[in-house]
Amino acid sequence: MAATIAVLSQKGGTGKTTAVRTLRDVLQRIGLDVLAVDLDPQGNLSDYLDVDPDISPTIGDVLAGRAQAAAAVHNGIIPANLGLAEAELMLSGKMGRELALKRALNDARDAYDVILVDCPPALGLLTVNALVAADYALLSAEAQYFALQGVEQALEVIELARESLNPDLKWLGVLLNIADMRTRHSREAFDSLREHYGEKLIDATIRASIAYAESAERAVSILDYRPDLAVDYLNVTDEVLRRLGMEEPRRRLEALVRNGLRAA
Ligand SMILES: Nc1ncnc2c1ncn2[C@@H]1O[C@H](COP(=O)(O)OP(=O)(O)OP(=O)(O)O)[C@@H](O)[C@H]1O
Ligand SMILES: [Mg+2]
Repeated sequence: MAATIAVLSQKGGTGKTTAVRTLRDVLQRIGLDVLAVDLDPQGNLSDYLDVDPDISPTIGDVLAGRAQAAAAVHNGIIPANLGLAEAELMLSGKMGRELALKRALNDARDAYDVILVDCPPALGLLTVNALVAADYALLSAEAQYFALQGVEQALEVIELARESLNPDLKWLGVLLNIADMRTRHSREAFDSLREHYGEKLIDATIRASIAYAESAERAVSILDYRPDLAVDYLNVTDEVLRRLGMEEPRRRLEALVRNGLRAA
């Protein structure tokens, strides 16, 4: 049974898609079967993973009931395009609209160790679907003055999903992303998150670097493009695996790092 993780934030541009793309890469290199679900009509994750923009079926077709999830998996990802916005509209008038993704993923769950869901930058129906389908919610927060406010709002939506539709949903943690810990405002963002959320804040932060945009543009993983920076994501993955109780994969991660990030 896969551990399903929804990666979300209230604001746009907090590094969610980059986190999904990079976590997926690390988890695959340690031999886990990972399914990525692009739940954003922008389709950024699908672009990053070089999915043909005209491919079908997509997650929009799945949510609209036109395709099975398994048929929409292309190279380990269920891609999205603007058709997802239409599917969301269609879904919004239906009974059980919050349950569509959960139902769709039910058959797929057995085939994977981890399912990563990349949410759109809004706390609307699509993100609620992700939270209802997920076992865990991972919040991404950009290291800015308003980080705390964004996390607070996302937490309210997590709480709503838990109270009404998914009592088993667990909060995996907050990831401080695109951080420059040499600056005071990044450090203040970290400190205020620590003060409010304690151990829920992941100790390891993701440094800000133009290398992320460059590596995305070149369709090269940050692990290969800038292994020195990728250490941040290795540390975050280790902490995520620890919180998931996946000790064996953690040992494989340690070996991966020892072997210079080359998959076995
Ligand atoms: N650690 C980082 N340092 C600097 N830039 C980054 C970092 N991580 C991601 N970026 C860049 O920031 C931009 C936004 O990142 P990304 O698309 O991952 O965010 P997002 O939260 O998914 O955005 P959206 O809310 O629009 O879906 C991209 O250009 C990406 O390359
Ligand atoms: Mg995104």
